[in-house]
Amino acid sequence: MEICGGKPLSGRVEIQGSKNAVLPILAGCILHRGISRINHCPRIRDVFDTTELLEILGCQVWWEGNCLAVDASRVRGWQIPIQIASRMRSSILFLGALLGRVGKAQLPYPGGCVLGDRPVDLHLQAMEEMGAGIEEENGRIRAEAEELQGREITLRFPSVGATENIILAAVCARGMTIIRNGAREPEIEELCSFFREKGADIRRQEDGSLSIRGGKELTDSRHDLAADRIVAGTYLMAAAVTNGCVTLGRMPSEHLKEVLHTMKQMGIRMEKMGKDLKVDGRGPRRAPERIETAPYPGFPTDLQSPMMALLAVTEGTCCIRENIFESRFETAFQLQKMGAKIEVKGREARVTGIPRLYGNWVEARELRGAAALFLAGLNAAGITQIKGFGYISRGYETICEDMKNLGAQVRIIE
Ligand code: UD1
Repeated sequence: MEICGGKPLSGRVEIQGSKNAVLPILAGCILHRGISRINHCPRIRDVFDTTELLEILGCQVWWEGNCLAVDASRVRGWQIPIQIASRMRSSILFLGALLGRVGKAQLPYPGGCVLGDRPVDLHLQAMEEMGAGIEEENGRIRAEAEELQGREITLRFPSVGATENIILAAVCARGMTIIRNGAREPEIEELCSFFREKGADIRRQEDGSLSIRGGKELTDSRHDLAADRIVAGTYLMAAAVTNGCVTLGRMPSEHLKEVLHTMKQMGIRMEKMGKDLKVDGRGPRRAPERIETAPYPGFPTDLQSPMMALLAVTEGTCCIRENIFESRFETAFQLQKMGAKIEVKGREARVTGIPRLYGNWVEARELRGAAALFLAGLNAAGITQIKGFGYISRGYETICEDMKNLGAQVRIIE
């Protein structure tokens, strides 16, 4: 990808459907012996890989405009091929879904973004608690359960994926499952809504736990996918990093409160108009003293790298602490190649803003890091070349077209 930086963005852009919400929903489709439709489904690589997987398992999948339809009347397979699992960490969600539908699953350890150690012990432990027998050999997980049993499960850490896997398993399990200390991300609430629309009995209790009464008959449904809060955050930061003025349509502001609060503190002006948010990044910005990533509703780890790119050109010094994924500072070293002043020590990075970055040849190794380099390129003087466009296309549907429409100079080099 080649970017000629320095053009202030201006105009309007619509936010795509949410990647992290649609992936567990697609796994959830196999629990229903019928058709599930998902409106606003983004056409991104992670979705294409998941639909390929659904087809391998015996589903029929087709597009109706921006709606993805999945017919899971027949599911024959239960093995996830390594070629797909190695591309996507979310392939692990088929563990709970396949156990629920066919009573067995075999999958390789999942791949996806290189974000340090990403174990799946919480997923496996929960499935065992629900009655599945699990064997691990030669990098493969084999799970089998004659019938899953609802259980009370307390997670050691509110893992998003593990919470989703338990919900998927619980929808078809016998009896009641209660999840304590589960994740509270909007994508979890959306997976619950998807199943409620199909007739499942899922409730959020007053103490914050989630209860799922399994075994309800599911029906055909049409789900409206929420807008992607991470793409929205990235686009907000793109407007700010170019000192531009952009209106974001279908803006999930209620899911981005901590990010919007931080950006306001930085002096970025924002105005809400119904579902639109106008962001005006033309004034001076100052860095907040500290940003710490945390489970929802805290500052999302997925926007930590894009925020680092913005702080690299914001006056003052900010200490970023990464509490979720220990290896998420790799992008700092690429940003340094563009002039950024960043000192990394363990889980903390100190970023001191400079007036402007300069273009260079940099390499992305994961999705959100790639987005951060994209933002840096939009700001930088001269030409930035980013290797690793494939990562961006895993999660951003039309980022190049969107940025071009807003006035940026971007092109993909084959
Ligand atoms: C999901 C998101 C990802 C986001 C992350 C945190 C999807 C497809 N991906 O990833 O974009 O960055 O949530 O918001 O929705 N952990 C364990 N054992 C486990 C599972 C997780 O120790 O069995 C640890 C991980 O190593 C990590 C932390 O828990 O340190 C968070 O991981 P988790 O919430 O599970 O993230 P994902 O579901 O993989």
